[in-house]
Amino acid sequence: MQVFITRKIPAVGIDLLKEKIETIDIWESSNPPSYEQLLERAQGADALLCMLSDRIDAHLIKSCSRLKVISNYAVGTNNIDLQCAKERGILVGNTPGVLTEATADLTLALLLSLTRKLIPGYNNGRNGLWRQWEPLGFLGLDLQGKTLGIFGMGRIGQAFAKKCRLAFQMKILYTSRTPKSEIETSLKAERVSWSELLETSDVLSFHADLNDSTRGVLNSEALAKMKKDAVILNTSRGELINTADLLAALKSNALWGAGLDVTDPEPLPMDHPLWSQPNVLITPHIGSATVETRNQMALMAARNVLRGLGLD
Ligand code: DGY
Repeated sequence: MQVFITRKIPAVGIDLLKEKIETIDIWESSNPPSYEQLLERAQGADALLCMLSDRIDAHLIKSCSRLKVISNYAVGTNNIDLQCAKERGILVGNTPGVLTEATADLTLALLLSLTRKLIPGYNNGRNGLWRQWEPLGFLGLDLQGKTLGIFGMGRIGQAFAKKCRLAFQMKILYTSRTPKSEIETSLKAERVSWSELLETSDVLSFHADLNDSTRGVLNSEALAKMKKDAVILNTSRGELINTADLLAALKSNALWGAGLDVTDPEPLPMDHPLWSQPNVLITPHIGSATVETRNQMALMAARNVLRGLGLD
């Protein structure tokens, strides 16, 4: 049996695989493999342990004749052609659950950093501009009692809503394919239409999967319905938001700000105008990036490989 791991992952995952599998091929470079490199190295693999940035499309799946398992080191699987994998009887695994709290925490960190201007404040001091106390400087926004809109009330959306309810007594509204009765009871959350969510949210946070129904859901038409002092957060997938439309809204002060852990494109090129937009905080897709969470993800992804190969 042979496994190809497309980036270095925490040792706990690799050690687990080594107990049962002789050939573990790891992409050692800190830069990800190109699509062509991925295609070449995956050829002899019985299992792939891959990243959300690897495009595992039908061409790749079909050209890897030994492939039996695709184990994504992520909860999202939008990088994989699931239909093609299914048709060929290839098992697909992901890492749900273990990254829920870490991703919700990062969403909260974005919210507080943005609404209390932590980065501009730090930069001001660091650049020698802190000369006096500013009666009108760095004015942020209160969160207490405001309305949080959640687009996609899955595990992460619920965890973030709980934190905001507990910390700031926020009113929770959400859209989701299915009603979430437990959250409606425990957080007094209310399921509303997409239009109502846009019109009433002070903070609108995206936690949905990327698929045909969510791609570009926040576009100019949707943005036009939002409050002028609303804040947008995205820690799910960049493609849920139409980047050009978001930029236009920020430029015309039709929004207060945006905290983005994910972007479209990703990585966001250095010359992209979003970088120079005030009141935008961008982090490099680090929602699950804690030592404990990445260890859990590595273990789960490794177990998925073993289970899929019948070696557990
Ligand atoms: C995932 O696992 O899909 C997340 O985006 C990683 O942070």
